[in-house]
Amino acid sequence: MNKPTVIVGMQWGDEGKGKIVDVLAKECDFVVRFNGGNNAGHTVVLKGEKFPLSLLPSGVLWQKKLFLSQGVVIAPDILLREIDYFEKRKVKVDLMIDPRANLVMPYHRLLDAATEEEKGEKKVGSLKLGIGYAYEDRNNRHGIRMEDLVDPKILKEKITKVYPQVKKRIEAVFNYRIDITAEEIYKEYKSYGIRLKKYAGDVSDAICRNLKTKKILFEGAHGTFLDGNFGTYPYTTAVNTISGSVFSYVGFPPQELNTLGVVKAYTTRVGGGPFPTELFDTTGNVLQEKGSEFGTVSKRKRRCGWLDMVMLRYAQRLNGCFGLILTKLDVLTNLPNIKIATHYMLDGKKISEFPTSLREVEKCRPIYKSFAGWREDLAKIKRYSQLPKNCRIYIAAIEKMLGVPIKYISVGAERGDIIKH
Ligand code: GDP
Ligand code: IMO
Ligand code: MG
Repeated sequence: MNKPTVIVGMQWGDEGKGKIVDVLAKECDFVVRFNGGNNAGHTVVLKGEKFPLSLLPSGVLWQKKLFLSQGVVIAPDILLREIDYFEKRKVKVDLMIDPRANLVMPYHRLLDAATEEEKGEKKVGSLKLGIGYAYEDRNNRHGIRMEDLVDPKILKEKITKVYPQVKKRIEAVFNYRIDITAEEIYKEYKSYGIRLKKYAGDVSDAICRNLKTKKILFEGAHGTFLDGNFGTYPYTTAVNTISGSVFSYVGFPPQELNTLGVVKAYTTRVGGGPFPTELFDTTGNVLQEKGSEFGTVSKRKRRCGWLDMVMLRYAQRLNGCFGLILTKLDVLTNLPNIKIATHYMLDGKKISEFPTSLREVEKCRPIYKSFAGWREDLAKIKRYSQLPKNCRIYIAAIEKMLGVPIKYISVGAERGDIIKH
């Protein structure tokens, strides 16, 4: 029997999941995105060309069977743009979207923008794409789903019912003036429904029927520390990102998974919130520049810091990875010393577990172990044994500290820049 494989990010997102899903999709039949919305940004690089993705699963370049499960919130305009982009390049998009998936509506974006302004200094750094509000409506059962989008009569009824309430809320609470009418939203979304209708299908059923016979790769978006419950709340996204959430977000029974955790060789985060190993010195700038650490969607500079074993221990506890994939190791080349935080100091005590309380995380100061760097270019290396000795020492230390094997090491953005271990 094929165990389903799940890819999760072990940090604050942008670990390189898109690249890894692209690499692993070659050997898979189905690629299923199970959470998040177009606030995710995954870049796949093929022969120098960059393919940015925010909703389509990163298996698209292999023309695999693709799925968007009900855990994903769908901005139809963005999805159609991505489909058009690939079809123009003669890449067939073989996609199924679960009718239960909720939509991102224009008023979700307006609400996001209004609340972020209101929070001032304490803002989450939301991309204002309306993702949090799309999940809010989904949970409150005010959501408009894919099944409604493809049925103009129901779509009109729902928009006419929901929108006036939301409009009142935006105008009264946030003092925001909005001109868009329910009729305009309906017209726009009706046209999306006409185009997306052919993709609607029961993803849960399709996955359950094929679990035993097909190789299925589940693509998680975001990262463990952006998990809406277990992450650095409230500086998180609105959805679960940990491996176990795949069952309810797709709709198949709990079972053993091959969970692979993607770990960037250092740590980054975009937006607000605590970041214990953040670097404010030139090394931080070097990581940011060499790693091209700019948001795929937002183009914002990502904050950079050392690898954090306290975080990874917690991520491993939550995800139960059977293996890790270490990415962007090439970015560390030429640094004289590389550090890993092994513990934190909190109120004069040495701790090894990531605190539950954000107030405590904010007070944590990392304790580092130092490693000697290497100067050799990793770009063309194809075998583990060819990696510089100090590089292998760094990799072995991560495996030992975490007790999880590193299965692949990524040393460049291109599909081929990967070493099996
Ligand atoms: P995701 O959100 O986890 O899919 O990651 P992103 O795609 O947002 O960010 C990772 C960035 O690093 C992308 O621009 C990738 O092309 C790039 N990348 C992925 N793996 C590597 C690697 O091993 N080395 C380098 N230098 N870049 C990589
Ligand atoms: P991928 O899949 C990095 C961050 C946002 C913001 C916070 C809340 O590319 O790894 P939201 O739009 O959900 O209201 O934003 O979460 N964030 C991410 N950061 N990578 C991501 O996804 C992210 N998805 C959300 O920057 O701080
Ligand atoms: Mg990303």
